[in-house]
Amino acid sequence: MCEREQEALCNRPVGVFDSGVGGLTVAREIMRQLPNERIVYFGDTARVPYGNKSRETIIKFSRQIVRFLQTQQVKAIVVACNSASAYALEVLEKEVDVPIIGVIKSGARAAIDATKNDKIGVIATEATIGSGIYNRYIKEHHPDAAVLGKACPLFVPLVEEGLWEDPVTDEIAGRYLTELIDVGIDTLILGCTHYPMIRSTVGRIMGPEVTLVNPAYETAHELKQLLREKGLESGHRPGLGTELYRFFVSDAADKFQKFANSILTYGILSAKVINIEEF
Ligand code: DGL
Repeated sequence: MCEREQEALCNRPVGVFDSGVGGLTVAREIMRQLPNERIVYFGDTARVPYGNKSRETIIKFSRQIVRFLQTQQVKAIVVACNSASAYALEVLEKEVDVPIIGVIKSGARAAIDATKNDKIGVIATEATIGSGIYNRYIKEHHPDAAVLGKACPLFVPLVEEGLWEDPVTDEIAGRYLTELIDVGIDTLILGCTHYPMIRSTVGRIMGPEVTLVNPAYETAHELKQLLREKGLESGHRPGLGTELYRFFVSDAADKFQKFANSILTYGILSAKVINIEEF
């Protein structure tokens, strides 16, 4: 490949997708750690949540999204959804011709590094906990670890309702987290992309002795290494007037935009609705 072709390839965007707004916590981290990279984000706002859907459905939805992202000429894909990473990543890895990563492996690795007493907790959707993937991955790399998973299905609607700091969230978090406190975990993985938004509530309830792991941070770091290894890093920040970040959703663009603007420092200009069923 000549230098010009390689540069054109490096200038392509990274595709990032989630069932809705949660993946914005991962996109935010990519923007922070990889400021030169363009991003095409897709949030499946018409079909969220994925966390209570079957493996087959999550794979079908993820395949459609990947096909859409490929029409956007992405150079790499980040599955910024734990539920989709749990069920669809292995399948997608075999089907796509660009590098693709999820959020689970990096989160699990960070937890292994952080734990001192080998007791690790995972909070996530029912789908992610039901898949047993965090447990499996942690045990594979650290057989002595004890892993306790807890599904917290009410956290996603609480976050989407904006109740990040609210007595209702405190009350529900208290109930969900009691058993993790009782077994004495010293590390807790925020295994759902919505949960970093209620990190302070979770941290307050778990106490200062417990390290909270946000896989978004580790995933952005892994993406950086991957792009470097494959020679796909964008060498410079695109000039003024270039659209650095583009957002697509399957429904309710206004609501998505409002939410995105509340968590991203970069004000998004617009989110475009597409019919994902066509892909
Ligand atoms: N983004 C999803 C995840 O990380 C949570 C929301 C959903 O259930 O779709 O698992």
